Amino acid sequence: MKTSLISGHNQKERLQTLIYSNAADACLHVATAISKLIRERNEAGKATVLGLATGSTPVRLYQELIRMHREEGLSFRNVTTFNLDEYYGLPGDHPESYRRFMQDQLFDHIDIDLEETHVPDGLVERDQVYASCQEYEDAIGKAGGIDIQILGIGRTGHIGFNEPGSDARTRTRLVTLDSLTRRDAARDFLGEENVPRHAITMGVGTILDARKVYLLAWGEGKAPVIAQSVEGEPTDSIPASFLQQHGDCEFCLDHAAAGHLTRVRYPWLVGPVEWTPEMVRKSVVWLAQKLNKPLLKLTDEDYAENGMADLLTEKGSSYELNIDLFNITQHTITGWPGGKPNADDSSRPERADPFPKRSLILGSEPMDDVFCMGGTLHRLANQGHDVTVAYLTSGNLAVPDPDVRRAIELIMEIGRERENQENVGFARSVEQQLDSKGRFGEDTREIRYLKGLIRRGEARTSARLLGIESQQLRFLDLPFYENGRYRRFKSGDADVAAMVALLQELKPHQIFTTGLGHDPLSVPAISFDVLCEALKKCAGSGWTSECRVWLYRGPGAEWDAHEIDMAVPLSPEEFELKIRGIYQHQTQRSQSPSTLRKGGSDTWNLASQLNKATAEIYDDLGLAEYEALEGFKLWKTNEVN
Ligand code: F6R
Repeated sequence: MKTSLISGHNQKERLQTLIYSNAADACLHVATAISKLIRERNEAGKATVLGLATGSTPVRLYQELIRMHREEGLSFRNVTTFNLDEYYGLPGDHPESYRRFMQDQLFDHIDIDLEETHVPDGLVERDQVYASCQEYEDAIGKAGGIDIQILGIGRTGHIGFNEPGSDARTRTRLVTLDSLTRRDAARDFLGEENVPRHAITMGVGTILDARKVYLLAWGEGKAPVIAQSVEGEPTDSIPASFLQQHGDCEFCLDHAAAGHLTRVRYPWLVGPVEWTPEMVRKSVVWLAQKLNKPLLKLTDEDYAENGMADLLTEKGSSYELNIDLFNITQHTITGWPGGKPNADDSSRPERADPFPKRSLILGSEPMDDVFCMGGTLHRLANQGHDVTVAYLTSGNLAVPDPDVRRAIELIMEIGRERENQENVGFARSVEQQLDSKGRFGEDTREIRYLKGLIRRGEARTSARLLGIESQQLRFLDLPFYENGRYRRFKSGDADVAAMVALLQELKPHQIFTTGLGHDPLSVPAISFDVLCEALKKCAGSGWTSECRVWLYRGPGAEWDAHEIDMAVPLSPEEFELKIRGIYQHQTQRSQSPSTLRKGGSDTWNLASQLNKATAEIYDDLGLAEYEALEGFKLWKTNEVN
């Protein structure tokens, strides 16, 4: 169901923007429009021409179209498709080629005539590229033009592979990929160095020629670029903004991707709002940050001049508002993330009783725990709580091959020294499998197994530094991950059953987890869905009503100040310890040396920057000055659908 968050306040938006409660609902809307058109055309004996995208974004849309084909008899016999783009230099059967993606995700499951499916040829000779692109344009024209064009959007603002700098007249051509785009694709190619540098893409002009355009976007990672595309001037630095010039384009977003639109982020700037406590907090913190003032120094004029006069009228004066907000923010700070025993807890984020608490920390992959809440984890353990850390997936897909080779060397060496033929044999066999997989082959079971063990070892050494012993760690190795690969993950009953078993065994008083608002196909988001399903199944078990779920934002991001319900300060020593804990995850220092050379930050630096930044924000708001802060949001179950 479409939910317009605050209707009628869209004057900042320069094109039609629909916000759905989740990606599945948005996909249903678009799939319904596609199927309606195909049926009308089929009845009239005419063909339908679809422009298609690849990437994570349209996967659910394709799943819905496949379902409509299987269950509702939607036929694609009369459909012609043109894909937006293809990596240059990749053969069609390469696992990351867009031709292969389309076969796997859609074409192999519907009754489309493959002759009528078009993807730019990534192997065309350099001197033939221009002609080949012309032919692609001609073929679109000959088919009658594109009826419906599906788009995702890159964090650079690209549509297709039209990177910043592409203007509205561009046509199908060979382009160079932006470094951010290549970084975003690094995970799929098992390393940035493997990502092709060039691609063939339809132009912005080609896209604008389509009769109807749907741009889809999910997850908070897309929120900034969506806001720029929808509310900014059309500019070639954000090619998606040229869609404002299209007469019939809809942006279909989930809540998280819409998060930076003015009507969602600063609704008081575009019309009257209901001043709920959350809205008051959000707006006052925003005002203080905007004016660079501590909360207690905001004046009546500051409120009045920044679209918040009605808040003043409703609440009295800036004096009262400021004190209220100061206290609310102050009360989020606690050095006792498990609650302070025998203390008045009426204005503390966590209850004093029971003590000790059974605290369950969930990591969608090893390292989430220490990266996002290493200091808090250390405090929970130190303060005597009964802590369990459960890693939902092994994270084996994120281990680079050279790390496996190092492990093989070690196993072989030990095997030889101790004359253990079994170890030597195992190591040789994995080595051979690595050799024969080539640059882009998939990892065999044994390679994945060994990679998983490497991550277990890293997790153990890291946790031990923070005061968590091996017996407090659980490795669930959920099947959705073990049997899948990026973009192909799909959770099922077995995943939920494993989570239910863990929850029923531990009966936690508090759970720390992540994944809300992430890209729905990402590992944290799927892990979060599994937890939600499991909690539903456990409802009524007694312990669930006493259990609080605390959300950490996830690797690489932190909550905005107004979203934080619990802020755990880290002393300089604790912070140092956390960083040393992160260092133990040797295989995860993800950025390539070239990114680092250009001043980019690696995973390890990022963690320290984020926690320090949160501490600075609290300091700027006029609260105490800490070395670093880890932020958590109390999860309200009604936020998930
Ligand atoms: C894919 C394409 C790209 C993607 C964009 C978002 O054919 O043209 O513009 O739509 O990079 O990628 P995901 O969906 O993986 O976030």
